[in-house]
Amino acid sequence: MINFFIKTYGCQANVADSQAVANFLVNLDCKQVYSEKLADLIIINTCAIREKSEQKIYSYLGRLAKLQKRNSLLKIIVIGCVASYKKKDFYVRFGFITFVSGSRDDKNVLRDKLIDIVLSMQTSKSLLVPNKKDFLDNQDKNNFKLGGVRRETRHSTQSFINIMTGCNNFCTYCIVPFTRGSEISYSSKEILEKIKQDIALGTKEIFLLGQNVNSYKCPETNLNFAQLLEAVAKLEGDFWVRFVSSHPKDMTLDVIKVMAKYKEKVCGFVHHPLQSGSNKILKAMNRSYTLEKYLKQVDWIRNYLPDATISTDIIVGFPGETDQDFEQTLEVIKKIKFDNIFSFIYSPRKFTKAAMLKDNLSYEQKQSRLAILQKIQVDISRANNENYVGCILKCLVEKEAVNGMLLARSAGNHTILFDGDLAKIDTFVNIKINSARATNLIGSLIE
Ligand code: 5AD
Ligand code: SF4
Repeated sequence: MINFFIKTYGCQANVADSQAVANFLVNLDCKQVYSEKLADLIIINTCAIREKSEQKIYSYLGRLAKLQKRNSLLKIIVIGCVASYKKKDFYVRFGFITFVSGSRDDKNVLRDKLIDIVLSMQTSKSLLVPNKKDFLDNQDKNNFKLGGVRRETRHSTQSFINIMTGCNNFCTYCIVPFTRGSEISYSSKEILEKIKQDIALGTKEIFLLGQNVNSYKCPETNLNFAQLLEAVAKLEGDFWVRFVSSHPKDMTLDVIKVMAKYKEKVCGFVHHPLQSGSNKILKAMNRSYTLEKYLKQVDWIRNYLPDATISTDIIVGFPGETDQDFEQTLEVIKKIKFDNIFSFIYSPRKFTKAAMLKDNLSYEQKQSRLAILQKIQVDISRANNENYVGCILKCLVEKEAVNGMLLARSAGNHTILFDGDLAKIDTFVNIKINSARATNLIGSLIE
């Protein structure tokens, strides 16, 4: 049997893409392994969002070079966003790479290449060789496009479904429209079919994924995102559905109303990237909304979904960000009291408009802003979490935590640690919260 290992960097769209590749290889009689040392084939799914993400990939490939020296038959494939624009560099710098396929490249070419590689490895290992044409005829093309059940974690409770790909927004700091290309929404019929299949396989948590899910529009029926979400929520079965990411420019009250109407199924959790609390910086970022519009949307969420949690993304040190602009971001954070913030130092990226702008801050100043913001948020997250002490939360058990406890997730995306039997993994349980920290809750199982 051919063993493959997948290393995934970056966002959940990459997780879905890796999943699609994993499912494809499993159908081709390959086995997914969880250590590079056991692998005949390694696939690296790359992320280009920040300079650091790209650096991580080069150092990982440096480590793989040593492995490849010991095992010259090892095949290495690079896919994803960095592969979209650094194809030649990969081949030149890392001569041992077998194939590079970017996020924008034709997926059929990657499928064909994977088949060729696997067939040639099976031949050299004298394994039973399937017929390529029969194999292609039997494959569900949508699996490769939409993603699906996550086997990567050895559990199949989570299903990552790409409802769209690409982005048309061109935020001035962001490389994604260049690496993933223009926005394309997938057919709602195909999405719903895929989700039904995954529910039948035992999926408990469906992630609807897109760079901007709010601009989803079914190419066949014109169904919008709120309508798609409702159609998913109406499907039979005991499951949760979540979505990432929303965009304040396109978020509508309809989405919030659907979340409220189907709150047993649609998780009360909104990841709503703000990026900055200063209208001047939002404009320079080409985000196409104002702080006032964003605050109104937070009010919608708080009014219709009083139990929902809200997280956000913030970039500090965007070119032109003054002390006052940064202060405005801090004020908004203190006002909204997000449950969680993903915060980043601005990183100039190739192709983007912002990369041409003059940077007014030193790296130390940016680091200091990031530290101030994160310190404020730790206290807010802890205080928000403390409100749950004494409450009972329905949770989905994901896995064993490092300390031997079990790790579960609430609808509001809290990480919850509790003592329990391994058999509870992949099931819904009720947990009473006993104590809270900034990053997680600790509770006990209610039988
Ligand atoms: N520098 C820093 N952060 C960035 N992000 C996107 N591009 C950059 C960049 N060039 C952040 C945004 C986005 C998240 C996924 O990554 O906050 O919402
Ligand atoms: Fe990047 Fe903006 Fe598109 Fe998000 S919406 S992927 S930040 S360009």
